[in-house]
Amino acid sequence: MQFDTLILGAGAAGMMCATHAGGRTLVIDHARAPGEKIRISGGGRCNFTNLYAGPENFLSQNPHFCKSALSRYTQWDFIALVEAHGITWHEKTLGQLFCDESAKQIVAMLRAEMDRAGVALWLQTSVHDITHDGGHYTAVLEREGKRHTIRTRNLVLASGGKSIPTMGATGLAYEIATQFGLRLTETRAALVPFTFSDGRFAALSGLSLPVRATAGDTTFDEAMLFTHRGLSGPAMLQISSFWREGAPITLDLDPRGTLLDALRTQRARAGRHLLSTELARHLPSRLVTALPDQIDLPLVGNLADQSDAALRTLTDTLRNWQLTPAGTEGYRTAEVTLGGIDTDTLQARTLEARDMPGLYAIGEAVDVTGWLGGYNFQWAWASGAAAGRAI
Ligand code: FDA
Repeated sequence: MQFDTLILGAGAAGMMCATHAGGRTLVIDHARAPGEKIRISGGGRCNFTNLYAGPENFLSQNPHFCKSALSRYTQWDFIALVEAHGITWHEKTLGQLFCDESAKQIVAMLRAEMDRAGVALWLQTSVHDITHDGGHYTAVLEREGKRHTIRTRNLVLASGGKSIPTMGATGLAYEIATQFGLRLTETRAALVPFTFSDGRFAALSGLSLPVRATAGDTTFDEAMLFTHRGLSGPAMLQISSFWREGAPITLDLDPRGTLLDALRTQRARAGRHLLSTELARHLPSRLVTALPDQIDLPLVGNLADQSDAALRTLTDTLRNWQLTPAGTEGYRTAEVTLGGIDTDTLQARTLEARDMPGLYAIGEAVDVTGWLGGYNFQWAWASGAAAGRAI
């Protein structure tokens, strides 16, 4: 069978690419349904883009690579598409846009766009073999127990990264990229909770509070969640992309920096209040109870017993809590894969391989990884559109 374009992966990037590609296009996926990660994203409402998305929200060995695609298919382009399909949305926080109703609407929208473009979609289809004979790629696919041989001018690697294997993530894009001489950068789980080997936070599990979290020289002000196995919540997911094994992370439990003044003021007004009682007005009381064990911070006496120096030591300690995670939850729960197909081997404008005409790589498979907050879908849409238009 002959197609102009074969797209491997019916996820966010592959479906977007298909709607722009033109010609005879086939999208294949081994899953039962397309866009499964879209469907479960954002708690079922899909954080489909971010109002403030820009190149500075992405990690890559080449931080300039994403600029071209992001500037030619922006968050406003995707918002216009969503609105043209009558999907209503809202901003939750920090520019993050979610469907009012359901993430399934985004999947249905992309399917409708694919139908309009006359794209063929084969589900429950696996890749058996791919070769290249100069002008064409030949793919041997397996569908419903039968082998199909597809000849195509363009081959698009859109099968994502390694995150959440139970949802169908495989290293297919990396394998084919390597087969055709494209380099890979080191991959690792990102946007992922931290684990601590001693179960030290089990008693605090379920507790959430705003923090300023730092890994290396990168800082995020967002919520943190204690879990049975460690630390999660947006602040931890964000800094996990910047953390390396063995390094400490730093938590500031007073991100607005108002605690010292508040304690001093209260000492003047109500010196007989217990220090721990007063602290519990600013931090969750379960955490205050655990602080002596967690940070070696004895909270003894009344406010009046505390010197300025003692209050300063207390607040400095709360603002500079250093912890070294044992690791992360890994690809099992990671929202994305950091690293991937080396951007040096691709053209930024088209996502086509520099030395392999007709071979394209898009979405999470490429070494471009967004922050938490709709940025990864924006990269999937933008890179998919860039490759599709180039085809
Ligand atoms: P994606 O993973 O979407 O698609 C790849 C496709 O290839 C899949 O359909 C898969 O089945 C298929 N495939 C893989 N291997 C194959 C093989 N060997 N043969 C055939 N097919 C194969 N981002 C964001 O911006 N906002 C959000 O709200 C969220 N929320 C979120 C929640 C959860 C739980 C996860 C895991 C991830 C997110 N993300 C997110 C990240 C986002 O889902 C991700 O970055 C994009 O889906 C990447 O799009 P791709 O099309 O590149 O890969």
